[in-house]
Amino acid sequence: MDNIQIVIDGPAGAGKSTISKIVAEQLGFLYIDTGAMYRAVGLKALSLNYDTKNDSNLIAQLMDNIKIDLKHGDNGQQVFLDDKNVTAEIRTPEVSIAASDVSAIPAVRISLANIQRKLAKQNNIVMDGRDIGSYVLPNADIKIFLTASLEDRAKRRYNELLKKGKDVSFENVLSDMNYRDTNDSNRELAPLVVPDGAIVIDTTGNTLEQSIKLLSDTIKERLNCLLK
Ligand code: DC
Repeated sequence: MDNIQIVIDGPAGAGKSTISKIVAEQLGFLYIDTGAMYRAVGLKALSLNYDTKNDSNLIAQLMDNIKIDLKHGDNGQQVFLDDKNVTAEIRTPEVSIAASDVSAIPAVRISLANIQRKLAKQNNIVMDGRDIGSYVLPNADIKIFLTASLEDRAKRRYNELLKKGKDVSFENVLSDMNYRDTNDSNRELAPLVVPDGAIVIDTTGNTLEQSIKLLSDTIKERLNCLLK
């Protein structure tokens, strides 16, 4: 049998990466956080002082030479940009916005989608993102669309940032998330949509533990049917 592809799409802050990572560990599959790749491109554009909303041509050219590696070790997924570990650096609010901006550039999407498809060919994967089930791997074995209300997602992200000691206001987190939702859903190539055949899971009001259980039970049930 070919490698198994489990894909989890959804808007920012729905808990995709936290939950996908845990489910991948439970199954012994490779976890691939495609948002981290867009964040690495966003970080590179910012480090060159590019305007991430308007310098599309310059940012597209970056894709010819950029080196993005996701390495998996004891400390979880580590993200390397041009051989430098940027795992922490890509998680700032500025990089979130830059990632959303650069993700609207077709050359960036095409280049990252190629890397993602290669990874999926070589491993059993749990891959999360915005367009994995609709564009990158439309024939994936299991497709999930994980979502929650904007307010709930912003609250979760706000609490995460506070825990990391960041000085942020809830209003800013909410407005950044709203900006990203609009951006991610309205770009021309591969916007955020519910993929055909996806199971929609809404985690509004759930605790993280409840969401993890819901997702992991759903995936295991589907996987059992698939492997029968
Ligand atoms: O999942 P995340 O918040 O780390 O993603 C950062 C940005 O990257 C997000 O706003 C949109 C973009 N993205 C994308 O366009 N396609 C993906 N498959 C993953 C992320």
